[in-house]
Amino acid sequence: MRPFQLTRTLPEDATGAALRADVLHGLTRAPKSLPPKWFYDARGSELFEEITRLPDYYPTRAEREILADRAADIAAATGAHTLVELGSGSSEKTRLLLDALPTPLTYIPVDVSESALTGAADGLLADHPDLRVHALIADFTRVLELPEAPGPRLVAFLGGTIGNLLPAERAEFLTSVRKLMAPGDSLLIGTDLVKEESVLVRAYDDPTGVTAAFNKNVLDVIDRELDADFDPDDFDHVALWNREEEWIEMRLRARRDVVVKIPELDLVVPFAAGEELRTEISAKFREEGVRAELSAAGFVPGHWWTDAAGRFALSLATAG
Ligand code: SAH
Ligand code: TRP
Repeated sequence: MRPFQLTRTLPEDATGAALRADVLHGLTRAPKSLPPKWFYDARGSELFEEITRLPDYYPTRAEREILADRAADIAAATGAHTLVELGSGSSEKTRLLLDALPTPLTYIPVDVSESALTGAADGLLADHPDLRVHALIADFTRVLELPEAPGPRLVAFLGGTIGNLLPAERAEFLTSVRKLMAPGDSLLIGTDLVKEESVLVRAYDDPTGVTAAFNKNVLDVIDRELDADFDPDDFDHVALWNREEEWIEMRLRARRDVVVKIPELDLVVPFAAGEELRTEISAKFREEGVRAELSAAGFVPGHWWTDAAGRFALSLATAG
């Protein structure tokens, strides 16, 4: 038996149905696009972990530096007995929080990637045998139902993942997270900050091609799940800085005219040479903007901490 609880709030076939709907919608409109959660099958989760170790991908190291410096402050300010983490992935940086928070402690990691959740929970329990872990396979952009757990609760959303949502999606997301929370609960949110374009682009387009492989993995997911015939070699990885929107855009650009068959959807998708499929944005933030978004969702923004180089920020807000 597992030493932790694992709850699937998505029905077994929900992933399939949602993927079909997203692929049908995203590949039949102009410009073509796909939502980013489909990157994270087991292989995608592994590739993301590789990204976090790339010399040019600074967000993970910067956020770890802040957590190492501030974990004790976060524990003191929140007094949390439950840590809920959205998009928890490997939970690697989370260890800094788990070590600092008071016991007894309940940890509720929430992720769409079952392999990431079980791998993380096994690893954590090896080092924290007293931790109560209740892992949740769930889509955090949908209505979440959290298991009963002692308060006060700290909800953490790390890695800059909030930047992968569009501004309107962020507002909706933050508002629904606020509704999950009670007075005395807190929200800890990691945001990557606006900085020099060359530094940003290098973080999303490394010379070794790991990020390209991660971006193209979404095509393998569609091939496998929907029996499609995408050839990843027909596409180039593109990462560019959108100065107006202040976000990085990840795209896949057709190297030649390509026709993709997706039999499960009865769909044939033509790509003209040079045509781009948008796979993800990664928004970069400024302090005023983050505070305004938190306030608009009903939070009371508090601490704003950055790493020494000012690349990344952690914000702590209360549910008011
Ligand atoms: N928090 C970790 C991982 C960040 S990568 C870190 O900071 O390193 C983003 C994580 O969010 C992945 O583990 C991915 O599987 C998960 N994820 C992405 N979209 C999601 C969604 N809609 N619902 C739940 N989890 C999601
Ligand atoms: N949340 C990560 C980020 O915005 C996701 C990410 C990192 C990513 N590198 C990527 C997504 C490359 C697509 C391609 O930094």
